[in-house]
Amino acid sequence: MAGNSFGRIFSVTTWGESHGAALGATVDGCPPAIPLAPSDIQAELDRRKPGGAFSTPRKEKDSVEILSGVFQGLTTGTPISLIIYNRDVRSSDYKEISQLYRPGHADRTYEQKYGLRDWRGGGRSSARETAARGAAGAIAKKFLNNSGIYVQAFTLALAGVECKTHDPDEINRNSLYCPDSDAAQKMLARLKEIKADGDSAGGIVEIHARGCPPGLGEPVFDKLDARLAAAIMSVGAVKGVEIGEGFRSASMLGSENNDPIIENGYETNHAGGILGGISTGQNIVIRAAVKPIPSISREQRTVDSTGRTSLMSIKGRHDVSAIPRIIPVLEAMTMLVLADFMLHPTFAGR
Ligand SMILES: Cc1cc2nc3c(=O)[nH]c(=O)nc-3n(C[C@H](O)[C@H](O)[C@H](O)COP(=O)(O)O)c2cc1C
Repeated sequence: MAGNSFGRIFSVTTWGESHGAALGATVDGCPPAIPLAPSDIQAELDRRKPGGAFSTPRKEKDSVEILSGVFQGLTTGTPISLIIYNRDVRSSDYKEISQLYRPGHADRTYEQKYGLRDWRGGGRSSARETAARGAAGAIAKKFLNNSGIYVQAFTLALAGVECKTHDPDEINRNSLYCPDSDAAQKMLARLKEIKADGDSAGGIVEIHARGCPPGLGEPVFDKLDARLAAAIMSVGAVKGVEIGEGFRSASMLGSENNDPIIENGYETNHAGGILGGISTGQNIVIRAAVKPIPSISREQRTVDSTGRTSLMSIKGRHDVSAIPRIIPVLEAMTMLVLADFMLHPTFAGR
């Protein structure tokens, strides 16, 4: 299986399965002399781990160990290897899906491609893999914060409820990372109903990167927006990515969508901080559409590996929505891209 590595200079390889012994990440290309403690990584993992009424009841501590690349609290510039042991594994929950393909999940495509699949917890297609991304992203965060770059994601819409207001201080006050406290209450109420119905929900996450200097991104195939879109889309359940006005720009006039240029920058930011694949120095604004969780306890039609039709009701431990757990993962992917471009020779060498 190829495609487990990401990034050119600041690169990450993730490894491990949902119900294997452990999973982890190897980060290469991190500059030396950056202060890094396990607690820096743990803080990010704690934001992603299961917990709360609408996330999987799987109890994973997600305790991370740094195996290499850090000496006396500083990165050495050598590969940083991270390991997270799987503790609360209950593979028996997945016996049924060893025979049946879950609608909306990757069971059938994996089996068609590889001729076999690790059905325990979904193997590599499980969201458990995103713990490794979160850990790697925490290292990118240390590097970016040192350079004055900060990334924050929040819930813009969930389960059909949209935010009407934006209070940045509210984001870390509620369990959904939602900047509108009224909307957050409505989202929670709606999730409760959806859960009781044996169903699941999707939503929209917005990601902001502030403090980015102008000049990140490489024309033509390595445009900053192209690499961000690939990074965000590589997270399970993400089905759409927008930069700036995104799909809305298709129905705007040029006079509405253009950002007037002024001496020190731009008057507006419809472009979402990227023009021609290169950062403008404004905030980078990304939105991700997150689909509903495929594993639902409602009965669904499917087939088994012999093609025999069947009805399936998924009883294992699952999230009702990938939001909010996806929030730190999307921040991590954004930070991995930005760190990579910050270290690109055409930028770093200027
Ligand atoms: C944070 C997060 C949590 C998720 N939790 C679950 C879950 O509990 N059950 C499930 O079936 N899918 C879950 N998913 C979604 C699946 O991983 C995803 O739908 C699956 O891999 C198929 O990939 P695709 O939706 O990108 O096509 C989660 C995804 C993320 C990012």
